[in-house]
Amino acid sequence: MDDVKGHFIVFEGIDGSGKTTQINLLKRRIEENNFLCHITQEPTGRPVGSLLRDCLAGRVKTDEFTLAALFAADRLDHILNDDDGLLKQLKEGISVISDRYILSTYAYQSVRVPFNWVMDLNSMAARKLKPDCHIFIDTKPDTALMRISEGRKGKELFENKKRLTEVRDRYFELFRLLKDTENIIIVDGTKNIHEISDIIWENVSKYFTSA
Ligand code: ADP
Ligand code: TYD
Repeated sequence: MDDVKGHFIVFEGIDGSGKTTQINLLKRRIEENNFLCHITQEPTGRPVGSLLRDCLAGRVKTDEFTLAALFAADRLDHILNDDDGLLKQLKEGISVISDRYILSTYAYQSVRVPFNWVMDLNSMAARKLKPDCHIFIDTKPDTALMRISEGRKGKELFENKKRLTEVRDRYFELFRLLKDTENIIIVDGTKNIHEISDIIWENVSKYFTSA
C-alpha cells in the first residue's frame, strides 16, 4: 500500500441510512479544496457486481454462502482491476470514496454464515487496501426503511426490519472488535443532512488541506 497517494474513505451503514446523500456532499467539499475525488460503490457495476445486483433484486436465486463469496470476489475485482480499480486510482493520487467495503460483508453476511469464514474470504482484500477511515452513519431500521419506502418501489433482499436490526447489531460488535486496528467514525444519522455533513467534514478535512 506504500505507493498509494490518494485517500480512501469508506461509508458504511444499513440500507437507507443516508450514505449516498453524504458521499455526494463530501465529494463536493473535497473538490472545493482542489483535490481530485472519485465516487464508487459495492456491489460494483462490473460483472460480479451486476450478478450481485440481480441476486439482491430477486432476479437470481442463490444461497447466503455463495453471496458472501461473490461479495468478496467483487471486492477483489474492485481493488485490482486495471480499468478504474481502487489501487489504480489511489496510486494516481485520486482520492476515492466508496459506498461500502469490507465491513459491509462482515456485518451483513455474518448474520447467516460463520464470521471467521467471512473474514477468511476477505483476508486478501484487507491486506491489499485498508481505508484511511470508515464513516458509519447510524440510523435505526424503522427510520431507514421509511426513507427507502418513500424513495422507491420494491424492496431488496436485506431491506426488512429483522435483517437490518441484526446487521446494525453486527456493526456495533465489529466496532468493539476493530477499535484498535481500524479508524471508525460513527455519526448520528437522524440529525439533519447538513449537520451530518459538517460532522463528517470535521473528521476528514485533515486529509484535504494543502501543505
Ligand atoms: P443510502 O445510500 O444509505 O441508502 P440515501 O442517501 O440514498 O441512503 O438516503 C435514503 C433516503 O433518505 C433519501 O431519500 C434521502 O434523501 C433521505 N435522507 C438521507 N439523509 C437523511 C437525513 N439525515 N434526514 C432525512 N432524510 C435523509
Ligand atoms: P447498497 O446499494 O449500498 O444499498 P443501500 O444504498 O440501500 O444501502 O447495497 C446493496 C445491498 O447489498 C445492501 O442491502 C447491503 C448489501 N451488501 C452486503 O450484504 N454485503 C456486502 O459486502 C455489500 C458490499 C453489500
